[in-house]
Amino acid sequence: MAQPQILIVGAPGAGKGTQSSNLAEEYGIEHVTTGDALRANKDVETEHGTPREYMEDGELVPDEVVNEIVQEALESADGYVLDGYPRNESQVEYLEGITELDVVLYLDVPEEELVNRLTGRRVDPETGENYHTEYDMPADEEVRDRLVQRDDDTEDTVKERLRVFEENTEPVIEHYEDHAGFVRIDGEQSPDEVWSEIKGAVDERVE
Ligand code: AP5
Repeated sequence: MAQPQILIVGAPGAGKGTQSSNLAEEYGIEHVTTGDALRANKDVETEHGTPREYMEDGELVPDEVVNEIVQEALESADGYVLDGYPRNESQVEYLEGITELDVVLYLDVPEEELVNRLTGRRVDPETGENYHTEYDMPADEEVRDRLVQRDDDTEDTVKERLRVFEENTEPVIEHYEDHAGFVRIDGEQSPDEVWSEIKGAVDERVE
C-alpha cells in the first residue's frame, strides 16, 4: 500500500515533535511540522505581519500563511506525519480539501505535566535536539552550555498557548474522534512507552 498519511494531535508539549521524528524514521515518511516551518521563517514579512509577532505571544499565525505551508509540503510528500496542524476548525476544513488521513493519533497529557515539560525544555540550536532541565540533560558540557529556551516556553506564554489550545484545538480533536483511524494514546508514559503504543496502533491500521 501507499506510504501512511498520519496526523498527530495534542496540546503544546504533548510530545508531538518527539514522536513524529520516530514515525518519520520508522516508516520513511515526511515530517511536516508547521511549528518548525514557521520558526525557520519567523521574520519573513507577509501581508499579516511576521510569524514572530504571533508566536512570541502564543497566538495562532493566520490561517492563510499556515495553509500555504501545509499544502506545499503535502504536495511533494510520499507519506507524511503532520504535526501542529490543523489547529482550528477552519484549518480542518482546508486540510480535508487537499488530502485524506489514514491514522489520527491523539496524545493525551494532563495540563500540569504539559507546563512542566514546556518550561523545562531546552533546545540545542545546532542540532534541534530537545532536552529537559530536570530529567534529560546532555552529558557533554559543550552541548549543555549552548542550550537555549524557546522564546515561547516562558511561563506566561505557555499559559496563553494552553488557553489557545483549549479554545481552538480541542474542538479539532473532538472532530477527529469520529474518524475511522482515530486512536487515543496515553502521552503521560515515558517516551519509549508512548512510541511502542503508537507503533502498534499504526501497524494495525496501515497493514
Ligand atoms: P509548535 O512548534 O507546533 O508548538 P506546540 O504545538 O505548542 O508543540 P511543542 O513543539 O511545544 O510540543 P510538542 O507536542 O511537539 O512536544 P515535544 O515533543 O517538543 O507551534 C509553535 C507556535 O507556532 C504556535 O504557538 C503558533 O504560534 C504557531 N503555529 C504552529 N502551527 C500553527 C498552525 N497550524 N496554525 C497557526 N499557528 C501555528 O515535547 C515537549 C518536551 O517534553 C520536550 O522537552 C521533550 O523532550 C519532552 N517530552 C516529550 N515526550 C515526553 C514524555 N513522554 N515524557 C516526558 N517528557 C517528554
